[in-house]
Amino acid sequence: MCGIVGYIGNNNAVPVLIDGLKRLEYRGYDSAGITVYEESKLKTVKTVGRLAKLEEMLLVQPVAGVIGIGHTRWATHGRPSNRNAHPHNDCNKKFSVVHNGIIENFQELKEWLQEKGHIFNSETDTEVIPHLIEEFYQGDLLAAVKQALAKMEGAFAIVILCEEHKEQMVVARKASPLIIGIGQGENYVASDIPAVLPYTREIIILEDGEMAVVTAGSVTVTDFSGNIVAKKPFHVQWDVEAAEKGGYEDFMLKEIHEQPRAIRDTLTGKIDRQTKKVVLPQVNLSQEFINQLEKIHIVACGTAYHAGLVGKYLIEKLVRIPVEADLASEFRYRDPIVKENSLTIIISQSGETADTLAGLREAKRLGSRVLAITNVVGSSVAREADDLILTLAGPEIAVASTKAYTTQLLSLYLLAIYLGDARGTLAETDRISMIDALTEIDVQVEKVLNTETKIKEFAEDFKNCENIFFIGRGLDYAVSLEGSLKLKEISYIHAEAYAAGELKHGTLALIVEGVPVFALVTQGDLYDKMISNIKEVKAREATVVALAMAGDHETAKSVDYVLHIPKTHPLMTPILSVVPLQLFSYYAAKARGCDVDKPRNLAKSVTVE
Ligand code: G6P
Repeated sequence: MCGIVGYIGNNNAVPVLIDGLKRLEYRGYDSAGITVYEESKLKTVKTVGRLAKLEEMLLVQPVAGVIGIGHTRWATHGRPSNRNAHPHNDCNKKFSVVHNGIIENFQELKEWLQEKGHIFNSETDTEVIPHLIEEFYQGDLLAAVKQALAKMEGAFAIVILCEEHKEQMVVARKASPLIIGIGQGENYVASDIPAVLPYTREIIILEDGEMAVVTAGSVTVTDFSGNIVAKKPFHVQWDVEAAEKGGYEDFMLKEIHEQPRAIRDTLTGKIDRQTKKVVLPQVNLSQEFINQLEKIHIVACGTAYHAGLVGKYLIEKLVRIPVEADLASEFRYRDPIVKENSLTIIISQSGETADTLAGLREAKRLGSRVLAITNVVGSSVAREADDLILTLAGPEIAVASTKAYTTQLLSLYLLAIYLGDARGTLAETDRISMIDALTEIDVQVEKVLNTETKIKEFAEDFKNCENIFFIGRGLDYAVSLEGSLKLKEISYIHAEAYAAGELKHGTLALIVEGVPVFALVTQGDLYDKMISNIKEVKAREATVVALAMAGDHETAKSVDYVLHIPKTHPLMTPILSVVPLQLFSYYAAKARGCDVDKPRNLAKSVTVE
């Protein structure tokens, strides 16, 4: 998501910081800033916009120093602005902090600090960190940082400079990446290896719960209690391009593997752990509005639309309000009936898709309240919507959407639970079991990712197919649509998804010997029906790969191959079942020699009609 770079040594930090931040530009950002230690003071220069703008500012107000930190921000809490850009300071500008991640309890901390007289300058969660350190500081920076860390919940990678300690940077990590680059008489820190590769290839990777004091000549790593952790640097062999991909061959594969992290980030701060209720800080639907809701529309394009189809199913089930899901390009021209007591949910990774934006405006024009689920703060969709659920997938670079989809699903689960709870249509026990399932879904996605080798083998076996069919019922049908889209967009294999019960009305004519069929069998209530549909295609000698739940030993008897996903709440299966389909598409495309990150004829963000 955001980028962090830090330098301490004998040279001017500024060019190193700017150069490092440029190397992280591919991750996307909306503002940038640096702090350097110059003439006994911490000097900060920051701005909304691109690094080029920061460089222009530095020409006008040059700063220089042998220790400094820099940051490119991708807005989460608070819109992109000069004030919200990092680094952030305390009241007396004694400390300067850059931060990636989310401080989950920042509101509570902010109020506590404000009561103690601290004055805040920005809307960010990050700003609580320098103020916390200021609150605890009594001359010992490390001690103050440790006390601050003990108060902070959530995810963070932080780098701290202190005016009174020009010989050191203090860094800490919990659930957000941070690395230390080891130089000769100089050291570097960064959120990502590419930032420091031109300077050093000796890297220490901080693990969760570790912090370090970095000076020009030393790096001391400890846990948050101060116990020394012995770390050995490793030598990076990759080139810069491979490093940007985190060692993965393509961004798509990296993004598939980032899903557990993206899920954790998206959930952060949205579940009250005590009450097991959903908290949506940027959704302001009144109880009266929720009680009077008669209809929900979901409007989106591509993968986001497929997430919307899962959302329709969930909301109708949990909230008992009719939901219509529309492709945005259809919605905007079909003269939709949008009533006053309605809510329109707009789903868009980029928040800039032209059709989706037009759908949003049409819904508003017709009098609907609009809630957006988007990955980009400050995007048009985010700005124009009344309510917002932010997916924290981080920048998605591959054209084919993966981590945005799973975090869109997650947001829809949260929303459905939230509305079901508010309407009284969701029993407390059901809510709790769903919340419990959501809180362990990241680990289960990791388990699915561990079956990658097997999926790769399947994909290679099927690489020469001309057609592949995906079938499922209920939620499995919605996921089949996404599996089929993924495969066709990156491998150029013709793929179709069908509601399994619909096969007999036409598609069965295409099922002949050896035609591959991916059958999703995760829905317990439709299990027998689905097995009958599998038998229909098997009777035509299709080659069937089933995606079944762990512990299901029956399905294997009716199919050629079976892949299992971990057991979860029956409504949560899409988050798990889509992952093997993403990996299958990826490896099929690779086996066919396709450029997976940039498929032909397609664009990441379609800002024209
Ligand atoms: C393009 C992308 C898809 C994406 C769709 C909608 O077609 O290639 O991956 O699902 O646009 O984009 P949005 O940014 O609105 O989610």
